[in-house]
Amino acid sequence: MRYTCSVAFLLSYLTCMIVAAEKTPKYEYHGMRKFLTRPDIEVPTWKVSVYDEAKVAPGHWFVAPYEVNGNKKPGGSWIGPHIFDSTGELVWSGSHMFKRINVMDFGVMDVGGEDLLSLSYAVEGRGYILDKQYKVKQTVVEGMTGKTYNMHDFHTVENGSHFLYLQRNITHASAQLAKQDLGYDGECSVTFPGFEERDVKTGEVLFKWDATGKIPLSDSTLTHGPVENRCTGGAWDYLHSNAIDKLPDGHYLLSTRHSDTIYKISADDGSILWRLHGLGGDRSDFAMGDLKFSRQHDVRFREHNVTHLIISFLDNATGADPQPATHEWSRGLLIAVSERDMTAAVIASYDHPQHGKSYRRGSYQPLPNGNVFMGWSEQALHSEHTPDGKIVMEAVLTEHKLGTYRSFKFPFTADPQYPPDIYANASTFASITQTSVYASWNGATEVASWRLSKTDKKGEKSLPLTIMPRSGFETLITYDGYAKYVVVEALDINGRSLHTSDVAKTVASKNLDPDAVAEEQQWLHPESSSASAGSSLRGFGVFTGGLFCGVALLWGALFWKRRRERRRPRYERVAGEEEDETKMDELSHR
Ligand SMILES: *[C@@H]1O[C@H](CO)[C@@H](O)[C@H](O)[C@H]1NC(C)=O
Ligand SMILES: *[C@@H]1O[C@H](CO)[C@@H](O)[C@H](O)[C@H]1NC(C)=O
Ligand SMILES: *[C@@H]1O[C@H](CO)[C@@H](O)[C@H](O)[C@H]1NC(C)=O
Ligand SMILES: *[C@@H]1O[C@H](CO)[C@@H](O)[C@H](O)[C@H]1NC(C)=O
Ligand SMILES: *[C@@H]1O[C@H](CO)[C@@H](O)[C@H](O)[C@H]1NC(C)=O
Repeated sequence: MRYTCSVAFLLSYLTCMIVAAEKTPKYEYHGMRKFLTRPDIEVPTWKVSVYDEAKVAPGHWFVAPYEVNGNKKPGGSWIGPHIFDSTGELVWSGSHMFKRINVMDFGVMDVGGEDLLSLSYAVEGRGYILDKQYKVKQTVVEGMTGKTYNMHDFHTVENGSHFLYLQRNITHASAQLAKQDLGYDGECSVTFPGFEERDVKTGEVLFKWDATGKIPLSDSTLTHGPVENRCTGGAWDYLHSNAIDKLPDGHYLLSTRHSDTIYKISADDGSILWRLHGLGGDRSDFAMGDLKFSRQHDVRFREHNVTHLIISFLDNATGADPQPATHEWSRGLLIAVSERDMTAAVIASYDHPQHGKSYRRGSYQPLPNGNVFMGWSEQALHSEHTPDGKIVMEAVLTEHKLGTYRSFKFPFTADPQYPPDIYANASTFASITQTSVYASWNGATEVASWRLSKTDKKGEKSLPLTIMPRSGFETLITYDGYAKYVVVEALDINGRSLHTSDVAKTVASKNLDPDAVAEEQQWLHPESSSASAGSSLRGFGVFTGGLFCGVALLWGALFWKRRRERRRPRYERVAGEEEDETKMDELSHR
């Protein structure tokens, strides 16, 4: 009987292994890291090739990795908003909050006077604001992705009191418009960009704009192939807007990638006040000198004086189409635009660290100390430059298949209200008994060290064992001895307690020294340590053990019988999987 069961279990185990192997995706991701305290989190690691600690600005990295292929369906747990410290160590994974689907434009912004987390979530057609406890505070804009919602830009203006974001309208340009702009006979299927400004508190739409009839179809530089193909191909993305900002005079700055143009749009009547044209073509209203750019991203107004507007952006310098390149590699540009003299000139330029292109878009962010933080998108490459262009930080994700839309750096302090996570195990090796305790706290920014204490099942007794400085997302604390129940307490830089974990039961290895176990039992239950109590306890243990064994064998036999009846075994569930899922559900709020 016993052998039959063992064989049955062995067979089912092997079958499970085969089924699991078949389900493994073909591509293997490299440089991913997992944690004992958070089995639901897997995070891509960074290769940091330049890091000058004295020169970089303080702050964390805000990156939202996604895979090359597809972002509509849930992917790996590394997809979504992530915060890393300035050396690339994980601080927060928000993957679970967004169904492991790509988010864009993740960073910190002023919302109603508070610096909060923000991101654009395309699958829901919404912008999200998260508070310092990583709870959703507000969602803004409900639109259909690809139809009315444009995920590229979502931010606040007017000192955090207004949201400004892009929209789009897939429609038909009238035959009259198509004839007039393109000389094309018939309606033309086009995506018209638009944008909206909304009050943060009331949600009221304060301004709404649509390019229809405002920006001619002939402004597009995405024009390869015959015009019929463009107009009948379904929603010709003739402008592809990717950034919107507001100028101090109340008018708007719109960037459209497929016309290589930055437009100033009137807040009075929606008309085009000027064009700053990347290719320096006939339509530029400015004398451009030697300034040329194309397929630009993240266009932002930065500052102004009486004569000039200062604008920053990432110049991709070419597109995927056959249009000639305007520069050999992508770069960050800071330009001065004079509306009086109608001139535009480069003030500063920051080169792609490898003189490459930023295939998956990118970003330009001035930092408070004068440095510039550039996101180059592909493999999430990002770099920090001093004002004179010297690279003081350069980092890239180890995994080639991952990228990010934009990358930012912000000082950020969080205040999570859920408890830290803990995992503990113990074993005896060469007659030395050790307990390893692992502690992490997803999203916490203020932990300086961890206090480990042993306790009882209910957490009523407590004996502090040691204090260990935090050493990354997950800190290992070792204790020379066996502790059956443990808790960790997060301490800040002043030793003040921030939060305590739940009680964890230590996973004991089979070889654990019985004396250490007895000693711990003595600490836990000093009153019930008499021999009789011990023997009755042992008696009870033998009884339960026997009962358990019997039930297990019975169950095994029934299991085997059922499988045989069904003839074709279908083993889909690996033992323990259910437990893992429950654990993940439990963790999903953190
Ligand atoms: C925003 O804040 C700046 C600096 O505090 C102030 O000068 C400006 O008037 C404010 N603008 C608005 C629209 O409140
Ligand atoms: C899209 O554009 C068409 C044509 O200008 C207009 O009639 C329609 O209202 C617009 N739709 C939206 C959602 O703005
Ligand atoms: C305004 O800024 C531009 C660009 O930095 C500079 O060339 C110009 O001299 C400044 N004008 C004034 C009046 O400060
Ligand atoms: C940037 O340039 C590269 C190289 O030409 C191109 O493949 C890519 O599509 C461009 N990116 C954008 C967003 O236009
Ligand atoms: C606990 O588990 C980890 C991971 O398997 C292992 O490296 C470590 O040695 C274990 N610690 C003890 C004390 O058994």
